[in-house]
Amino acid sequence: MHLISKKVFLALFVVILLNGSSFGQKVDKIAPGIWRITFGTPEQHKPADFKAAPSDALSKLSDSKTPPIAIDEIKFRQTAKGSVAELMMDDTERIYGFGLQVNTFEQRGMRREIRTSSGVKGKDAYVPHPVPFGNVGFGHAPMPFYISSKGYGVLINTSRYVTFYMGSQHKVEKSVKIKQSLTAEDKTAATSPSQLYRSKYKSSNDVEIAVDGAQGMEMYIFEGPTIKNVVERYNLFSGGGAIPPLWSLGFKYRGKSDFTYKEVLNFTKYFRDNHIPCDMFGLEPGWHSAAYSCSYTWNKKNFPNPDSVLNVMHGMNYKLNLWEHAYVHPSSPIFDSIVPFSGNYAVWQGAVPDFITPQARNIFGSYHKENFLKKGISAFKLDECDAAYYDEAHAEWSFPDVARFPSGVDGEQMRQLFGLLYQKVIWDEYKKENKRTLLEVRASHLFAAPYSAAIYSDMYDHGDYVNMIANSGFSGVNWSPEVRETKSEADLIRRMQTILMSSHMVVDCWFLKNLPWYQFDEKKNNNGEFLPNYKELELKAKKLIELRMSLIPYLYAAYAKYHFEGTPPFRAVVMDYPEDKNVWKINNQYMMGDNLMCAPYVDGKSEREVYFPAGKWYDFNTNKTYEGGKKYKIIMTLDELPMFVKEGTILPLAKPVEFITPETTFDLTCRVYGNSGKPVRLFEDNTYAFDFEKGQFSWADLAWNGKKGSIKRSGNYKKKLYNITGWETVK
Ligand code: GAL
Repeated sequence: MHLISKKVFLALFVVILLNGSSFGQKVDKIAPGIWRITFGTPEQHKPADFKAAPSDALSKLSDSKTPPIAIDEIKFRQTAKGSVAELMMDDTERIYGFGLQVNTFEQRGMRREIRTSSGVKGKDAYVPHPVPFGNVGFGHAPMPFYISSKGYGVLINTSRYVTFYMGSQHKVEKSVKIKQSLTAEDKTAATSPSQLYRSKYKSSNDVEIAVDGAQGMEMYIFEGPTIKNVVERYNLFSGGGAIPPLWSLGFKYRGKSDFTYKEVLNFTKYFRDNHIPCDMFGLEPGWHSAAYSCSYTWNKKNFPNPDSVLNVMHGMNYKLNLWEHAYVHPSSPIFDSIVPFSGNYAVWQGAVPDFITPQARNIFGSYHKENFLKKGISAFKLDECDAAYYDEAHAEWSFPDVARFPSGVDGEQMRQLFGLLYQKVIWDEYKKENKRTLLEVRASHLFAAPYSAAIYSDMYDHGDYVNMIANSGFSGVNWSPEVRETKSEADLIRRMQTILMSSHMVVDCWFLKNLPWYQFDEKKNNNGEFLPNYKELELKAKKLIELRMSLIPYLYAAYAKYHFEGTPPFRAVVMDYPEDKNVWKINNQYMMGDNLMCAPYVDGKSEREVYFPAGKWYDFNTNKTYEGGKKYKIIMTLDELPMFVKEGTILPLAKPVEFITPETTFDLTCRVYGNSGKPVRLFEDNTYAFDFEKGQFSWADLAWNGKKGSIKRSGNYKKKLYNITGWETVK
């Protein structure tokens, strides 16, 4: 904590008189480059209460004495409806963020409603949503946090729904001024429809933030100076990004909902027999004796002997992942004990634990520890924590906003927090066991970066999925653009490429009996009608999974940077090239680590435009070069991966392994792109525990002197994760 001078403090402690009421607003500098403004009496339980301790690395960032925006010009007021803040943007500012927004990217001029909801967009969803919300701001992990291109961030630390008007409204006082400058032409009667509808729309400079139902609000201001620095500061303040266990960067397959142990073992054996890399297998609802709501007990008909299934799977070096949600079925062993610490409404007859109470956390967490973690379950898929449906058929899929919880929060607050609290309860148990995990979760919220999880959805629009990869980088979350059924072979392969180039490579066949490359069409797949060329398609899929395995050392290093420096591994191009106005709106390309740019082909297409920022770029497949500052039309066959390498990159590519164990070491070929390979850092540790937090890790620095490559290690971890087997140059 940095002390601020008495004078500055007094200057910042302002009393605002508005609407006849007076409300104090207090400013604290809470960390380097982070200011907290407290207005009125914010609610008791806020997202920051569930935050990890800030990373020590925060102290290495710039730390200005004065905030990046004029805090004393922010106007707060209290109305009968709730708390409101007003601030200004200038004409040039662009706005990004608001969490994992689905189908919008640059947010200026928009009204964003920050509300957790699974019903994001009707189109292409597996469960077509009866009310297609379009792009109003709802989503699995929308967040009250935006970043301005001027290099500052604004976050509202609230668990209530928040509405942001980002220059979307104009005040009437402006019209009064406009009246004085109307031209003669402006005043002439409209003579055509286009004139009738003439509007000189341009977003305003006003930002209004409304937190309904609140008696105050807590606003955090983050200093940059760049967009990327704001995000890095936010992630480090959250505790630093999670480094997932190395095995979780491999390939995951999720089998059909009602698979029995026989089908699971058939699949896992199939992958090994055919040398298709696979690290994890996920069981869907059918492993529970009751799933909607959940019993958290094995279905003995499908899995008569779960321990022996686990033994066999571990023997084949698989990690097992279990699907569940947090609504506790009356038949569950924890039902009676958790009811007193649950909300007063049920979901699918199940109790909804109030994870703000230590009792609910303890009952749920220790049950999972004893029955699953200790037995060797490596991860969970935490489903349905975002549900918010409105029609008769689905309304019961969530608790209402008027629900009451023992901690004192209502249903609205719990809906916003539920995914965050749920992942934290499970993640805390893994942490106590000193085992890293990568959870899947369907909702999240602010400050989630240290809780190792990937968010997924039932939506399925490929373009939205790519947009969400770009947006995930603004908000400290991983996004999983999973593959399920597809429309064509091209759609299958292009989607497989996108999951390869994402934080989580998962094929989620929870409603497919057979492999998606045997048959991409759902009905035919389940009828056992296979494509004539399924073996050929399988080879393509296998090649892509192997390519993912090759990229693991590069990705692992990107995650280490996420942890130690806060830099998101997957991010919008604008974060790396903020000055290039051609990238300001690009949401269909993104950076993967510092040196690779991905430009997925969606909707089964094989032709698209790709814009290259400054420098020279190499096609990963052909080494063809592209000049920065230009847009190219690029055609790629299905065998080519839409990934481009920045000049000066040393790209370590591993010989693919079929699975990862604590003993795995990687043989690396380092490809040097261009004449001057810039040094690159790889991360080495035991790959599965939290020992790196106690200093048990090393950096392996790769360098190229124009003729020869070298590797230099520094740090406490002595075992080598990487062997360099060769250097290649790409001119
Ligand atoms: C959905 C989830 C799917 C699948 C399914 C099982 O809600 O998003 O991925 O797990 O539940 O019922």
